[in-house]
Amino acid sequence: MQRLIDNTSDVLPTVKKILGRDCPHYQRILEAAVQEVPPVWLRSEYLDFFWHCATTIPNWLPTVLLACARTEGNGSHGLLKMWAGVRNHEKAEVGLLRHAKDESGHARLFIKLASLCFPRSYSPGTIEQSEQSIVPIERDSIAKSCDVIQLNMLIDYMMQLNIVEMRTLHHLKIMAPMYYELCPTENREKVRRILESLERDESRHIAYTAEIIDEWYEKENDDIGRLTDVFICRLVGYNQHTLDHCDDAKNDYGQGRYLSLFAH
Ligand SMILES: [Fe+2]
Ligand SMILES: [Fe+2]
Repeated sequence: MQRLIDNTSDVLPTVKKILGRDCPHYQRILEAAVQEVPPVWLRSEYLDFFWHCATTIPNWLPTVLLACARTEGNGSHGLLKMWAGVRNHEKAEVGLLRHAKDESGHARLFIKLASLCFPRSYSPGTIEQSEQSIVPIERDSIAKSCDVIQLNMLIDYMMQLNIVEMRTLHHLKIMAPMYYELCPTENREKVRRILESLERDESRHIAYTAEIIDEWYEKENDDIGRLTDVFICRLVGYNQHTLDHCDDAKNDYGQGRYLSLFAH
């Protein structure tokens, strides 16, 4: 196993700070799952790979910002679709709707970051094109659907969101110092405020999903082993998804390095 640059221990204090309480059942599930399946994004080689891309691929950081905007925009519509299928779970409905709106706002914030951090790195019209490609969440699109999500499936989705948000926050922590340091001095204060607001939101996304998982166990008296198995299964999937996502970059730019990161 690769040496980890971090572990999930900073997740639990973040969750506690936001919720004002511990989530002991969520903690048991998380700790058992990451012990069994360490997230690949916490490997030291993953951080090395980001550094390698940032320092050797022309225009990589500006490109990543606009890619993030696309991902966040698409994610917001996925969350809205999920919200549309939830019934009889107020906390999940409130959380998902706010989450969808947050991610929609993040799409715009990443484009703003792009223009503030790298004002001379894009060809004319690129920023405007990105802005136009973002589909905002309109009031009309906020409507319930007939595809109802069963509650045990909802918990599975909450685990998936929890994992994705932990990875997103980790990515942000890797990238934020680079954006802050590389932006023109006169934009630094605005960039700092945007990065900090993104960090707050992503932390809140981890917290509300953790709380729903925790309360589910408490109220439904579900089997902790079964819940942990689901979390493990999803971690395996997201590890693979993360490696697949890196695969093109590795082939194009890895120059034969990072083989152990992508070996399994
Ligand atoms: Fe986001
Ligand atoms: Fe998020």
